[in-house]
Amino acid sequence: MKEIEKIDEMKRLRQQLAEPVGLVPTMGYLHEGHLALVRQARVENPSVVVSIFVNPAQFGPREDLKSYPRDPERDLALLEKEGVDIVFMPSVAEMYPAQFSSWVEVGKITERLEGASRPGHFRGVTTVVAKLFNIIQPNKAYFGQKDAQQAIVIKKMVADLNMNLEIVTLPTVREPDGLAMSSRNAYLNPQERQAALVLYQALSLAEQLWSQGEKDAERIRQEMTALIQKQPLAEIDYVSIADAKTLDELDRVSPPVLVSLAVRIGKTRLIDNIVLE
Ligand code: PAJ
Repeated sequence: MKEIEKIDEMKRLRQQLAEPVGLVPTMGYLHEGHLALVRQARVENPSVVVSIFVNPAQFGPREDLKSYPRDPERDLALLEKEGVDIVFMPSVAEMYPAQFSSWVEVGKITERLEGASRPGHFRGVTTVVAKLFNIIQPNKAYFGQKDAQQAIVIKKMVADLNMNLEIVTLPTVREPDGLAMSSRNAYLNPQERQAALVLYQALSLAEQLWSQGEKDAERIRQEMTALIQKQPLAEIDYVSIADAKTLDELDRVSPPVLVSLAVRIGKTRLIDNIVLE
C-alpha cells in the first residue's frame, strides 16, 4: 500500500494503475461504514484508492473542524488489511494553496436540509470531491447512504458537469442497537451514546406509521418530533419527509421518500435517514 501526500505524485501513479480505478473519499477516523465502501470498491475494481482529508472548506466557522477526530496510523493499518492500493492523504496547503479561488456549486438541492442548516457546507464538499476526481480520475467512486443528500448532490454534480465516472451509493452501516456509525459518535459520552438512539427510534417510528398506512407526512413529522422531544439530551435541528429525488418537503407520503433528520445530542450534531420505497 502506497501512502501519497503530493498531488503530482498521485497523478503520476494514477497512470500506472489497472482500470477500473475505485475511489473511496473519506475524512478518516475510519469505522465499519467506511470499510464497507472500501470492501465493495475492492470487489469491483483491480485498483482501489482511498483519500483521507479533513476538508476545512466544508466546515462552518462555528463547527468542529479543530476537534474532528483523527487517527491516521490506525486508519492506515485498517486500509492495509483491506488490501487498498493507494491512500491519498494531502495536507490542507497541498489542496488549498494560498491563492486558491475556484469553487464548485450545485444549485437548488444544496439549499435544503443539511444545506439549510450548514450554509456553504455543500460548496466545500463538491469542490473537494471535484478536485479528488480530477486528481485521481476514478472510474467509480463510492459514497454512503448515511449522508443521503451528499450522495444526491455528488450525482447531480457528476451529471451536470459531465464527469466521466460512476457514483455508487451503499447502505448505512449501523451499530447492533441501530445507531448509524459515524466518526462523530466518538464525541458522545456514555449517557449521550444512549440518548443518540433516539434518531434511529424516530426513523423506525416513521417506517412503522407508514407501513400501517399513514400517508400524511405532517402527522409522521409530528410523531417523530414528539418522540425526540421526550429525550432531554436531544435538540432537533430538522425532521424532514421529502421527495427522494428533488428533496422537496411533502404533504403526502408517495415513495420513494427520504425520511431524514439532524439532532443535536449535547454538543454533537448527528444525522440519519431511511428511504421509504
Ligand atoms: P466521511 O464522513 O469520512 O464519510 C466518508 C464516506 O463514508 C461518505 O460517503 C459517507 O457517507 C460514508 N459513511 C459514513 N458513515 C457511514 C455509515 N454508517 N454507513 C455507510 N457509509 C457511511 O462524507 C465525508 O467524509 C466527506 O464529506 C467527503 C465525501 C470525504 C468529502 O470531504
